[in-house]
Amino acid sequence: MLSQDLIKKRILVFGSNGMLGQRVIEIYKKQPGIELMTTSSEENSIFPDIPYVPCDVTHRDSVKKIIYDFVPDVIINASAYTNVDKCETERELSWKVNVKGVEYICEACRVLDTHLIHISTDYVFDGTKGPYSEIDTPSPVSYYGRTKLASENAIKVSGAAHTIIRTNVLYGVISSGRLDFVRWVVNSIRKGEKIRIVTDQINNPTFLDDLAGAIAEIIRFKKYGLYNVGGRELLSRYDFTMKIVDFFNLDPSFVTAIVTAELNQPAKRPLKSGLIILKAESEFNYKPVSIDESLAIMKKELNL
Ligand SMILES: NC(=O)c1ccc[n+]([C@@H]2O[C@H](COP(=O)([O-])OP(=O)(O)OC[C@H]3O[C@@H](n4cnc5c(N)ncnc54)[C@H](OP(=O)(O)O)[C@@H]3O)[C@@H](O)[C@H]2O)c1
Repeated sequence: MLSQDLIKKRILVFGSNGMLGQRVIEIYKKQPGIELMTTSSEENSIFPDIPYVPCDVTHRDSVKKIIYDFVPDVIINASAYTNVDKCETERELSWKVNVKGVEYICEACRVLDTHLIHISTDYVFDGTKGPYSEIDTPSPVSYYGRTKLASENAIKVSGAAHTIIRTNVLYGVISSGRLDFVRWVVNSIRKGEKIRIVTDQINNPTFLDDLAGAIAEIIRFKKYGLYNVGGRELLSRYDFTMKIVDFFNLDPSFVTAIVTAELNQPAKRPLKSGLIILKAESEFNYKPVSIDESLAIMKKELNL
């Protein structure tokens, strides 16, 4: 009889062109024992050497077809409508992507007994008394947060085997698509642009490699339910920026401290936020690197 170790795990990644999706694939494609299938909404993948099928998650039949054709053991759902401000005006579309799309994935997961790993956010909270644990009560203040909370609820009632990971402020080694916060700070200041950064938004920023590693452990140990996955340090966005400035020897006079209200953004932000990671630390030995360690990895891998 074949040992389980000799059977390749089939992993399907939704949102493979996105920030998290890319990094997950970059790391997992080097692992033995994994057969990857990837999908995003764009026609082409940024990984020409990995099997890819374009799929709009708002199209139920396409979602089901890709899942039934590949028969995955695990689905990592890193797809989402992530523009927080646009979610306020594009309500129908953001609901379709963030909630209906997830429902379609769940329907197929339940039939095939596929383990769904879904990525959620600290934006399910109002940001009045963070950092938050898994047992705190969500109360989103933005439409994006409402869609993400609704996606969590849809998964919980779906009957699919699932893990929901809440995370916050993703950054790390990615080379395509939109810039993450760290590269935006570095690029802007190096170009001589002044940046205005808020002092009143508190988080524990999450290095993408730590999140990708946590997902791998969740798969390995078959951990189900809700887990917070974040960084080791809880700090304001301004203090995070100053760490980046310091590490990359940038000129701090290019950074102006402001408060969130000055930005007049369409969507309200949870201010005192962040995620307590004790459950992940104790249940699957999650050990995030420090911010300085993560910046050193980015500097090396991205030639920053
Ligand atoms: N970024 C953060 O700081 C942060 C913080 C907390 C939680 N999260 C959560 O983490 C997850 C990953 O975030 P991210 O920053 O990696 O997002 P991202 O870079 O915006 O990527 C989102 C992905 O979703 C795909 N997508 C969007 N609409 C789609 C549709 N209709 N059908 C199929 N795919 C669609 C996009 O595909 P294309 O690129 O092909 O269009 C993209 O690959 C999301 O669930 C997000 O809510 C992110």
